[in-house]
Amino acid sequence: MRLLSVFYHSLIFSLVFCYETQLEADLDFVLNSYNHDPKCAFNYTQVNSTTIKFFPKCDLVFGIIVINKNTDLTVSQMQNAFKNMASLAGGVRIENSNLSRLSIFTPGKKEGYFSFYCETYGVYITNNSNLVDASDLWQTYPLYDNKENKECDFRIENNPKLNASYLCDFGTFWQFMDLKVKGNEEDCGCQGDEITAASLPGYKNSQVLYRGLKLQNITDSADYSYLSNIQTIKGTIDIRNTNLQNLSFLESFRSLKINNLGSVLKMSFNLQDNSQMTRLALPVFARVENIEFGHLQLFNFENLHPDFCLTYEEILLFFDNYVSFTNLHAKICEDSVLEFPKSYVEDLRICHFESMNKLPNDCGAIIGDVIVDAGDELNIKKIDKLVYLFGSLTIQNTALTTVDQFHRLEYIVHLGSGPVIQVTSNKQLTKFTSMYNSLTYLYTRSEKNREAVFQDNHPNITNAFGGECRFRDTTVSDVLAYQIRMHFTGGDCGERVEVVSRSGGQLGVPAGITMLIVIYFV
Ligand SMILES: *[C@@H]1O[C@H](CO)[C@@H](O)[C@H](O)[C@H]1NC(C)=O
Ligand SMILES: *[C@@H]1O[C@H](CO)[C@@H](O)[C@H](O)[C@H]1NC(C)=O
Ligand SMILES: *[C@@H]1O[C@H](CO)[C@@H](O)[C@H](O)[C@H]1NC(C)=O
Ligand SMILES: *[C@@H]1O[C@H](CO)[C@@H](O)[C@H](O)[C@H]1NC(C)=O
Ligand SMILES: *[C@@H]1O[C@H](CO)[C@@H](O)[C@H](O)[C@H]1NC(C)=O
Ligand SMILES: *[C@@H]1O[C@H](CO)[C@@H](O)[C@H](O)[C@H]1NC(C)=O
Ligand SMILES: *[C@@H]1O[C@H](CO)[C@@H](O)[C@H](O)[C@H]1NC(C)=O
Ligand SMILES: *[C@@H]1O[C@H](CO)[C@@H](O)[C@H](O)[C@H]1NC(C)=O
Repeated sequence: MRLLSVFYHSLIFSLVFCYETQLEADLDFVLNSYNHDPKCAFNYTQVNSTTIKFFPKCDLVFGIIVINKNTDLTVSQMQNAFKNMASLAGGVRIENSNLSRLSIFTPGKKEGYFSFYCETYGVYITNNSNLVDASDLWQTYPLYDNKENKECDFRIENNPKLNASYLCDFGTFWQFMDLKVKGNEEDCGCQGDEITAASLPGYKNSQVLYRGLKLQNITDSADYSYLSNIQTIKGTIDIRNTNLQNLSFLESFRSLKINNLGSVLKMSFNLQDNSQMTRLALPVFARVENIEFGHLQLFNFENLHPDFCLTYEEILLFFDNYVSFTNLHAKICEDSVLEFPKSYVEDLRICHFESMNKLPNDCGAIIGDVIVDAGDELNIKKIDKLVYLFGSLTIQNTALTTVDQFHRLEYIVHLGSGPVIQVTSNKQLTKFTSMYNSLTYLYTRSEKNREAVFQDNHPNITNAFGGECRFRDTTVSDVLAYQIRMHFTGGDCGERVEVVSRSGGQLGVPAGITMLIVIYFV
C-alpha cells in the first residue's frame, strides 16, 4: 500500500512537474517566435496577485495567459489589468477556474474585437465548473498566417454548465471550421475528426460536423449508417485507406463549409487510397461554401478503384461550386448522359466528336478528343460556341493563322492520357491565344496531363505574351492561375519534345489529297 502511495504521489508530482515545464517551454516558444518589445512580454505561466503587477500596459501583449484555481483575483481586477491590451500574441488557458463568464478581455475600440494571434499557442477553455456563458468569445478574433491556412488550436472542453450549442455560429466564430467544442453541457455539433469503428454509434443524431470528416484506416466492417443524419460538414473531408465503395451512406449531406482564403493549397475534400471505391454517389450533396467568394476550393481524388467514375451531373456540380482538382483519378461513368440543367441560361448543343468534318455547327459541349488537322481549316468556325470540352484538344498540320474560335471555351475535362493540348506543325499559326479567352477550369487526371505542347508553329505564336507560352492572361488572379495551370512544352515554348501525332476516327483521307484541299482553300 505504502509503496503504491509513494508511486502515486510521485506520479502526481511528475504530472504537475511535466505540466509546468511544458508550459514554460511553450511560453519560451511563443516569446521566441515574435520579434517583440520585451516591455510587452508577460513572462509568467500563472496569473495571480503577484504576477499581475508585471502585466504589460501594451496594446499588443506577448505571452500565455493562464487562469486557473490558483488565480486569487476577482474578475474586475483582471479586467483592469488587461484593459490596455487589444491584441494578444500567444494564447490563453482558462482551466479549473471559477469564472462564470469570460468577460475579462476588452475589445479594442478601433477594431471592435479582441485579436488573438494564436498560431504559436492556442486557446484552451477547460474544466471550468461554473462557466455558463462564453459568448464574450464572439468578440475575439483568432488570427493566423501559414501557407497551409491551418486554423489556430481553439478548444472549449468539459465545462459542465456551458450550453455551447450556438457558440460556433455567431460573432467571429462562424468562419472557423476547426473549433473543438466538446464535453460541455451542450456542444455546437460533433467532432468529425474522432470517428472510429467503435465511436460511430455516437454520431447517430449528428447533423453538423466540425473539424471536417476524417475516415482513416477503418477497414473492418464499420456501420457507416450512423452518419446518415449529417447535413453539414465544416472543415476538410479526408477519407483514406478505407474499404468503402462509395459515400452513399452520407444520405443527408448537402453542404460542405470551408475556410480557405486566397490561392492557398489547403485541401477541402481528399479521397485517397480507397482501393474499392468505384463511385462518389453522394445522394443530395449540393454546395461547397467558402467563407468568402472567389477563393480556391481544392479537391483531390487519388488512387481509388481503377473503375472509379463520376457522372456528368457530378462534374457539373463541381463546376457550379468552383471546385479545382489536384488529381482526378476518374473516368466518366459509361451510363452517364450529359444534360444541362434547365436553369442554365443558354441552350447548349451537345455533340460527340468524330471528326471536324462531321461535327455539327454550334456545339456548346463536345464529348471526345478534338482533332483539327490539315483540311479542317474551314470547319474551325464550328467551334465558335464551344464552352465545355470533355476531351483533349489537338491542332496539327493546318494552314490556320489564328484559332480565336476557342474564345468561349471555359471548361476542359481531360481524363484520358497524354497532354491536354497539342498544337503542332501549323506553320502559319501566329496567334493561339485570343485576348478574350475564357478558360477557367481545367480538370485532368494528374499533374502530368496538364501538359500543353507547342511545336513547329509560326515563330510569332508566343508574341501575345511577350514570348511566353500561355493560354490566357492570369496575372489578375492567383486562383485562376492555379485553376488553369498548364505545363507548356515543345520547341515554341522551350525545349523540343517528341510529338505523338494524334489521329481520330476520321475517314483515312490520303495525306496528298488533304494537302491539295488546303492549297485550294488558302
Ligand atoms: C522569461 O523568464 C525566464 C525565467 O525568469 C528567463 O529565463 C527567460 O529568458 C525570460 N524570457 C524572456 C523572453 O524574457
Ligand atoms: C503566483 O505565481 C508565481 C509563479 O507561479 C508564484 O511564484 C507566486 O508564489 C504566486 N503568488 C501567489 C500569491 O500565489
Ligand atoms: C465560485 O463562484 C460561485 C458563483 O459565482 C460562488 O458562489 C462560489 O463561492 C465561488 N467559489 C469559490 C471557491 O470561489
Ligand atoms: C479536466 O478534467 C478531466 C476529467 O476530470 C481531466 O482528465 C483533465 O486532465 C482536466 N484538464 C485540465 C487541464 O485540468
Ligand atoms: C441550450 O440552448 C439552446 C438554445 O437556447 C436550447 O434550445 C437548449 O435546450 C439548451 N440546452 C440545454 C441543455 O439547456
Ligand atoms: C493510417 O495508416 C497509415 C499507414 O499505416 C498511417 O501512416 C497513418 O498515420 C494512419 N492514420 C490514422 C489516422 O490512424
Ligand atoms: C454503394 O455501396 C454500397 C455498398 O456499400 C452498394 O450496395 C451500393 O450499390 C453502392 N451504390 C452505388 C451507386 O454504387
Ligand atoms: C511576326 O512578328 C514580327 C515582330 O512583331 C512582325 O514584324 C511580323 O510581321 C510578324 N509576322 C507575322 C506573319 O505576323
